[in-house]
Amino acid sequence: MNVAVPKEITAGERRVALVPDGAQKLAAGKLSVLVQSGAGRPAFFPDEAYEKAGARLVPDAATAYTDGNALLKVQPPTLEEVGRMQAGAVLISFLQPAWNGEVVKALARQRVTAFSLELVPRISRAQSIDALSSQANVAGYKAVLMAATRLGKFFPLLITAAGTVAPARVLVLGAGVAGLQAIATARRLGAIVEAFDVRPAVKEEVKSLGATFIELPLEAQEGQGGYAREQSPEFLRRQQELLGDRVAAADVVITTAAIPGRRAPILVTREMVARMCPGSVIVDLAAETGGNTEGLKPGEVLDVGGVVIDGTRNIPSTVPVHASQLYSRNVTNLLLLLVKDGNLNLNFDDEIVKGSCVTHGGELVHPRARELLETTRQ
Ligand SMILES: NC(=O)c1ccc[n+]([C@@H]2O[C@H](COP(=O)([O-])OP(=O)(O)OC[C@H]3O[C@@H](n4cnc5c(N)ncnc54)[C@H](O)[C@@H]3O)[C@@H](O)[C@H]2O)c1
Repeated sequence: MNVAVPKEITAGERRVALVPDGAQKLAAGKLSVLVQSGAGRPAFFPDEAYEKAGARLVPDAATAYTDGNALLKVQPPTLEEVGRMQAGAVLISFLQPAWNGEVVKALARQRVTAFSLELVPRISRAQSIDALSSQANVAGYKAVLMAATRLGKFFPLLITAAGTVAPARVLVLGAGVAGLQAIATARRLGAIVEAFDVRPAVKEEVKSLGATFIELPLEAQEGQGGYAREQSPEFLRRQQELLGDRVAAADVVITTAAIPGRRAPILVTREMVARMCPGSVIVDLAAETGGNTEGLKPGEVLDVGGVVIDGTRNIPSTVPVHASQLYSRNVTNLLLLLVKDGNLNLNFDDEIVKGSCVTHGGELVHPRARELLETTRQ
């Protein structure tokens, strides 16, 4: 079986789906690895490192798609890329089926067996495959550094001959994987950190990182599988009201709240932004799904009355070395679950295989992906 790694073509994407270490691991698993020349370069992995790891370089995407039986990607393929794939090929990638209906349908028509990393079930055995978590970790870390460089203040408490500098106040909304990493990073830089999440289960984790968990007199609807559920408009209105003072007092707000397959909830309204001090910074990690901040423009950094609203997209791509390394481990672990003795061996009785497969044998096989395609905008 040939595992191929085409170069990512999405603008601004610097990650690569497989790093040389991963290529070596796959080669040891009796798989031949083809890497499009230059695929690793934006993440600082040169062609020679892949060759050394036992991969064969191919000159262009056309060869990667023609010769590859298993394709490893980061960004969902374009319709043109799908058109180049072989019938019966396997694709492992982020697919965001909720937003990529046409691509998913094209994958089915092309008879590609496609696995969406967003759909890998969140069970203990799947943790090493969980690319949402590995990339959220990167985003949570980098978001704090982005805020720190924009803030006109220090993060830590400083006692100097010229006087004492108070530590920065950081508020993290949504304490999932990205939020917890943001809390840990802001704490390491010396900030005073508070956090809120609708899942009370995270309270102890927040506290163990040295932050304060904000308790609100609100009853959230519980979600399933470790995820939050979409809350009612009345809940969100109360949440905004109750969090208003905390947002106003913060130097930095990092928002990470997301609901799988849905638009991100608005947690910070225009009125709340207006109450923040000039020079404060909001980094909105939910920018990909519309943002948690009212008025945010995904992909843009705005100045709203002196408050920076940073809606940078694809933050993991700005840490391409480690983001690729972690992603590469996730995809190799999933791929190795799909092969036996170097050949494809799909076991749909396996919860991970069944749970993450979107298209197979010309059909859209994933019920949740089907539902997402029906209920969200295309
Ligand atoms: N394999 C596993 O077992 C596994 C892997 C990863 C995550 N998980 C679990 O899933 C959790 C969430 O994962 P995630 O970070 O990918 O989630 P996510 O990216 O879907 O959401 C981020 C956070 O936003 C929160 N949120 C949603 N609506 C909110 C609102 N109105 N106000 C405040 N916060 C809101 C969610 O509760 C979540 O913690 C993890 O913390 C963990 O408990 C389990």
